[in-house]
Amino acid sequence: MEDKNKDKIKIIGKNGQKIEISKAEQERRAKIKKVNDEFKVANAEKSRIINEKEIWKYFFEKPKKNYNKYMYEMLEFPRHLMYNNESVDEYCGKWNKFFKNKNEIYLEIGCGSGNFTVQNAQKFKDRNYIALELRFKRLVLGAKKSKKRNLDNILFVRKRAETVLDFLGKDEITGVYINFPDPWEGEEKKRVISKSLFSKLDIILKTNGKLFFKTDHDQYYEDVLELVNKLDNYEIIYHTNDLHNSEKASENIKTEFEQMFLSKHNMNIKYIEIEKIK
Ligand SMILES: C[S@@+](CC[C@H](N)C(=O)[O-])C[C@H]1O[C@@H](n2cnc3c(N)ncnc32)[C@H](O)[C@@H]1O
Repeated sequence: MEDKNKDKIKIIGKNGQKIEISKAEQERRAKIKKVNDEFKVANAEKSRIINEKEIWKYFFEKPKKNYNKYMYEMLEFPRHLMYNNESVDEYCGKWNKFFKNKNEIYLEIGCGSGNFTVQNAQKFKDRNYIALELRFKRLVLGAKKSKKRNLDNILFVRKRAETVLDFLGKDEITGVYINFPDPWEGEEKKRVISKSLFSKLDIILKTNGKLFFKTDHDQYYEDVLELVNKLDNYEIIYHTNDLHNSEKASENIKTEFEQMFLSKHNMNIKYIEIEKIK
């Protein structure tokens, strides 16, 4: 009599159960798996191409011949990088839903490649961080660092500082960091820190919330001190023209530009803390 079980092989089923199948069945299953796997790869590649073809529309009105490769890489960090206005603006007043907690939210404006905010997010796990930047490469580098460190309290956003009211709600922010913004010599009206920024902080920053400003630029430092002294709802609570030789030096987290100014130019870093008093 023929032994029906002689060709049978024991395998583990999808639900962890032990099952017996014939060699022929095993070969058939292996073939199906191979075709399915190839199909998945081909489709993933296809959908990636479709996305890559479409993404320029977020940033340019007319198609161009060449695009910055980092524009495509932004797609690879859906949890750490938001680049389209619609998604960002939808969270206005609801960022705690995005972070899935009720922790306080800090904003960095012009975050560069993200070293400063990534280190803050690592150090203060009970705070959330939103970091604004315009350049694709810098956003991608920041998101990459956050993903690598598995940080779930940080998000990079491609938004201009001037548009904060589109995506941040009333009293939604506890602290704002602005590190080494462009001083716009001769075109000072273009500076990020301006009367107009404070009128937006009147809305998004909580009472007793703070603005932290670092610069290498003497005149920008002097101008911000003068500007804040004229505002009746903000107060300078700390300032120094030599941060690295001040009492704040030990808690200071260096930014990329700060590292560069220190190592190449050995410059004094100026620092101001401003509190919203009402
Ligand atoms: C001089 S870099 C400083 C970068 C970083 N904070 C650091 O200290 O290394 C200024 C950054 O601000 C960004 N930026 C300039 N204007 C901006 C704006 N209106 N909104 C958001 N980011 C802006 C620039 O793309 C640039 O990366």
